Amino acid sequence: MFALFKKYMKSALIFAILAPLSMGVEVFMDIRQPTLMSEIIDVGIPAGDVSLIVSLGKWMALYALIGLFGGIGCSTCSTLAATRFGSSVRQALFNKITTLSYKEIDEFTTSSLITRMTNDVAQVQQVVMMGLRALARAPFQCIFGLIASYRLSPRLALIFVAAIPILAIAVAVIIVKAFPLFSQVQKRVDRVNTVMRENLLGVKVVKAFVGQTREKQRFETTNSDLMSWSMRSAFLTITLTPISTFVLNASVIALFWFGGNMAIGGSIETGKIMALTTYLTQVLASIMQVMMILMVLSRAMASAERINAVLTTEPEIRDDLNPELPQSASVEFDRVNFRYNDSDPEYVLKDVSFAVNSGETVGIIGATGSGKSTLVALIPRLYDVGEGSVRIGGADVRKIPRKRLTRDVGVVLQESILFAGSIRENLRWADEECEFEVLEEAAQDAQAAEFIAAKPYGYDSPVEQRGKNFSGGQKQRLSIARTFARRPKILILDDSTSAVDTATEAKIREAIKRRGGGTTVFIIAQRISAIMRADRIIVLDEGRVSGIGSHAELLRSNEIYRAIAVSQLGEEVLEDG
Ligand SMILES: Nc1ncnc2c1ncn2[C@@H]1O[C@H](COP(=O)(O)OP(=O)(O)O)[C@@H](O)[C@H]1O
Ligand SMILES: [Mg+2]
Repeated sequence: MFALFKKYMKSALIFAILAPLSMGVEVFMDIRQPTLMSEIIDVGIPAGDVSLIVSLGKWMALYALIGLFGGIGCSTCSTLAATRFGSSVRQALFNKITTLSYKEIDEFTTSSLITRMTNDVAQVQQVVMMGLRALARAPFQCIFGLIASYRLSPRLALIFVAAIPILAIAVAVIIVKAFPLFSQVQKRVDRVNTVMRENLLGVKVVKAFVGQTREKQRFETTNSDLMSWSMRSAFLTITLTPISTFVLNASVIALFWFGGNMAIGGSIETGKIMALTTYLTQVLASIMQVMMILMVLSRAMASAERINAVLTTEPEIRDDLNPELPQSASVEFDRVNFRYNDSDPEYVLKDVSFAVNSGETVGIIGATGSGKSTLVALIPRLYDVGEGSVRIGGADVRKIPRKRLTRDVGVVLQESILFAGSIRENLRWADEECEFEVLEEAAQDAQAAEFIAAKPYGYDSPVEQRGKNFSGGQKQRLSIARTFARRPKILILDDSTSAVDTATEAKIREAIKRRGGGTTVFIIAQRISAIMRADRIIVLDEGRVSGIGSHAELLRSNEIYRAIAVSQLGEEVLEDG
């Protein structure tokens, strides 16, 4: 929490200093009121001295006015400080998240990252605001109040000394009990967000499968779980109020009892008792306020921990200090084992070895879940291998600077994701300086030029969030064009033409060949027609390489490939081979 504070308060430092200062002004003014009041009661009224009463009254009004300005200043400054602070923390989180690897993001989960950036930051921001207001006020008010009451009556001030520790102990116990609950509550907020996110992103599937009832139930379960944890922590928190009220009332009674007896004995005036009552209320209220802040602080600490967990993650994928540069576009897998989680019992890729020369076209085929997407994800280092190595042009991908790697390897992911903006912005996404002619050519080669031209504003037509105003096949073609525009040395198409008809797919394949020029191409496909002409085909089976070779070779030697070929092309494929 304090680490966060130190680092991100800089932009708001001036306000963070001004807030308690103006609060000091307000408190200093407030604290004089009861004494002036007691003077009116004890001196002015008995003597019937109207001019004294009026002049004391004027002072009271003046102090109230100055105090008001102090209060306004404090509210303004603390709000400014807290908002600026929150905004810096959010920005820092966002910046950090962009450096995280897929694996690290998987580990945090997307929903949790969103909760951390929104809800958790809000908690921390709130404590800053409350803290700047009250933490400055409470100590001043408490100390000034104690001094003032001591001056009025040292004996009666002893009541304060008894009441304060009782209150403090009660609150400390509650906070210690509540702290673990707060982090549980935040975890539940994560879960609610996960379900909500899944439903919003998958709304079409949910509706298509008439899954609303089931999903409603799932949301209800997670939501009521959140509610019950929130209530548990809230119950603890609200016990604070009755306890403090009780201590406060008991002290006031004690004050009246002892003060009353003293007044009867003539050793104290009634006005002083009135003033003492006000001070007592102020002092205990300020302590309650501190405790309340500590409570909010302990909740914010749970949030701060979650924020820090992200901020202090050392990105696993970093540039090597002794970089190596690829000498060509050849790709080599050497005894690669890979799993997504170190705790998974089985590897997703098992002992995968193969070598591809620069400029070759490689087809990858295999059942869903056989590890095709995983295999190609290792080439641009979206994940790091567990054992073995992946090399490009002789250099281990872990040694290649990230910038170079992303420039050399272009991936069209299985799921095409477009961003809100225009078509032009989306195509230029990887390289903002990209010439328009290059974009146009890329769009043409990806067979996207035609439908772009048919749009009312051509390349400036809007793309909505996640590209939802385009069909699946159009999105895929835009994604391909986006990657084409970068002219990568290694091009990976992960099932990127699954929603495109076969004729268009063939045209895209021809364009890839035409663009060629030493580009190594990996094509993952379900349709054998998309890869049968590749220089080399890798057949994956449950994470293992079951066969490598040309179409003809594999037909002869590989049973899995033969089965796929026969099922898609018919028995006659065997005769041609
Ligand atoms: N992000 C991930 N986290 C954990 N497991 C994953 C992840 N992505 C894929 N897997 C698992 O890895 C295996 C291979 O998946 P994938 O490479 O996507 O197969 P394919 O592309 O051949 O259909 C599957 O069993 C899948 O459940
Ligand atoms: Mg896949």
